[in-house]
Amino acid sequence: MGLRFSVDEELCIGCGECASDCPYGVIEMQGDSPRIAGEREGICIGCQHCLAVCGPGALSIHGLHPEDSLPLAGRLPTADQLAVLMQGRRSVRRYTGTPVAAGEIQFLLDTVACAPTGINNRQVLFTVIDDCQVMETLRRATYGSLDAVIREGRLPAGMEFFQAMVEDALKNGKDNIFRGAPHLLIVSAPKDSPSPEADCHIALTYFELLAASMGLGTLWSGLAKWALVMIVPEVLQRLGIPENHQVGYMMVFGYPAVTYHRTVQRASTHVNRVQALAAA
Ligand SMILES: Cc1cc2nc3c(=O)[nH]c(=O)nc-3n(C[C@H](O)[C@H](O)[C@H](O)COP(=O)(O)O)c2cc1C
Repeated sequence: MGLRFSVDEELCIGCGECASDCPYGVIEMQGDSPRIAGEREGICIGCQHCLAVCGPGALSIHGLHPEDSLPLAGRLPTADQLAVLMQGRRSVRRYTGTPVAAGEIQFLLDTVACAPTGINNRQVLFTVIDDCQVMETLRRATYGSLDAVIREGRLPAGMEFFQAMVEDALKNGKDNIFRGAPHLLIVSAPKDSPSPEADCHIALTYFELLAASMGLGTLWSGLAKWALVMIVPEVLQRLGIPENHQVGYMMVFGYPAVTYHRTVQRASTHVNRVQALAAA
């Protein structure tokens, strides 16, 4: 299929930005005109920097056209706005049962799919539970299977604390693992992809910030990951995540049943500022 690369010669000003910004030198200038350096075509990673960097919008690649991209001028949030979002985001552990609309979940996933991935491989898989009933079934299956593991004395070493948690859930209905959230997002990537862990963590970080800006609450759930990956993988297997995938992390989300009125105050910025290299 090739790179489906084309340049509108009437719009192109021959600035060479597309060639300069191409991380793999796939585009070269021939006089004032960009073109694909034939022998390098196969190493294009599909990052679309050429499409994004072209001021006049003269360049199409992979069959994508600049007019279908979001223009950026005057549309970016200010640093202050982002800083408030980052400082004001909280781990939400109390949720209303109200489901998040399918369109909102799709908007979140589509946006988060733009997060960076190693070598732009973009193989992160978003396994999402958007149906509250399915979430309820998962909750019950998880606690039921954990209970069975505990009764059979099969809790892995170091995971003994799950016993009290499961008792609390079964006796008092307290859901410490999923925090009663109506939705769960599990992010995974192929084990042999360039950077599965980083890709998954970045995707979830994007997800939680965008979700916070939409009035949604999120919680990274290490407990869910430990439970489903390490203790009751038979439950995880029911979610259809491919076997060759590594689970990066899990995040519950929904509408918060709690309002935070101010930021917390963290005084722990650990910086190692290198002013000179130590002697070799
Ligand atoms: C990787 C990771 C795993 C976490 N797992 C859990 C968890 O299983 N249960 C929980 O209640 N909080 C969990 N948290 C939330 C942290 O406890 C929380 O981020 C921290 O207390 C700071 O609070 P804040 O997020 O509101 O700033 C997790 C956070 C991270 C980053």
